[in-house]
Amino acid sequence: MKRQLPAAGRTADLHPFPMELPDLPVEELRVRLGRERVYKLSFNENPYGPSPAVARALQEAAATFHLYPDAYGRALCAQMAAFYGLSPEQFLLGNGADEVINLVAMAFLDPGDRVLIPSPTFGAYGAAARLAGAVPVTVPLKDYRIDLDLVAAAVTAGTKMIFLCNPNNPTGTAFPAAALASFLNRLPEGVLVVVDEAYNEYTDDPASYTALSLLDAHPHLLVIRTFSKIYGLAAARVGYLMGSAELIRQVHRVRPPFNVGAPGQVAALAAFGDRVYVDRMREQNSRQRRWLTEKLTALGWRVVPGQANFLLVDTGRDGREAFTRLAEQGIIVRPCHGFQLPTCLRITIGRPEENAALVQALEGENTRGSG
Ligand SMILES: Cc1ncc(COP(=O)(O)O)c(C=O)c1O
Repeated sequence: MKRQLPAAGRTADLHPFPMELPDLPVEELRVRLGRERVYKLSFNENPYGPSPAVARALQEAAATFHLYPDAYGRALCAQMAAFYGLSPEQFLLGNGADEVINLVAMAFLDPGDRVLIPSPTFGAYGAAARLAGAVPVTVPLKDYRIDLDLVAAAVTAGTKMIFLCNPNNPTGTAFPAAALASFLNRLPEGVLVVVDEAYNEYTDDPASYTALSLLDAHPHLLVIRTFSKIYGLAAARVGYLMGSAELIRQVHRVRPPFNVGAPGQVAALAAFGDRVYVDRMREQNSRQRRWLTEKLTALGWRVVPGQANFLLVDTGRDGREAFTRLAEQGIIVRPCHGFQLPTCLRITIGRPEENAALVQALEGENTRGSG
């Protein structure tokens, strides 16, 4: 007799991480596409990799990898605290920002709580809310931007948490801290605001876009960052949360004790210490972002003015057409159907040679199309 399997419960409408072309590791893409040269511009990784200081630090630390890591990542938190002018108790490490998002939801949300999420945005917020049994409520963007007035207007008595991605993935648009300050002042008590600043370091002026300066005055604010983007450490899985010591303590309650391994902590510490490298990464990205914006605009595409290490472009037709043509030439970008933007592509800004290959592939198509 066939046994009835248990039903999925309240998470039934969540899906496992997809394994479509844009999600595959680059070695597998080489095999699938039958090409040695593959440019993966679908994950918003730093194409230059981490600071050389990381390899040196890992080499030195490897002899201690039989030991459990520091459960609080105190060396890393102390260094970041000194840099940002906060106290170490205001930091919590996660296995990537992904885990931090889940931990925040788990720590504060009850079944039935409403969670405001601008849309389209990074998918992890909605999933985390559902995991906690809460109800995600989407607030549309206005001209590809998070409209804080619309978000404030959507707050109801049941609203417990608001996720804001700044710069927003997949649009790249950012709002300044000054706009956030007046938004925070308007919110009723008991509403927690979580600002995901995964791409902050790529903005033209990181200090004016970050919510960090508002932490002191707003104890209901949490800020998320990651080592996966400008620090070039996506493989290490290190993200972090900043907020009042009281809120951070609440999140520690639900955190597995050794959630960030020693290799990740060591790598992040070395990467964080190399500020010259971080500044160089930002400058290189900004230069290439300007160049790519100009070239893609010249192709007749609408390029959303973004502040991150990727660009959202509207191709004016099904985005999968350009995606397929590029994939045939070994260039993988992200079609945006999953973000409800079916005519758009999100393109990670790569190295100059990657960006040039992308533009050349598209220009070739245009010439052929009109010939
Ligand atoms: C806005 C945003 N937040 C968080 C993450 C996840 O980062 P991590 O690699 O630290 O889990 C990403 C990854 O793309 C992202 O775009």
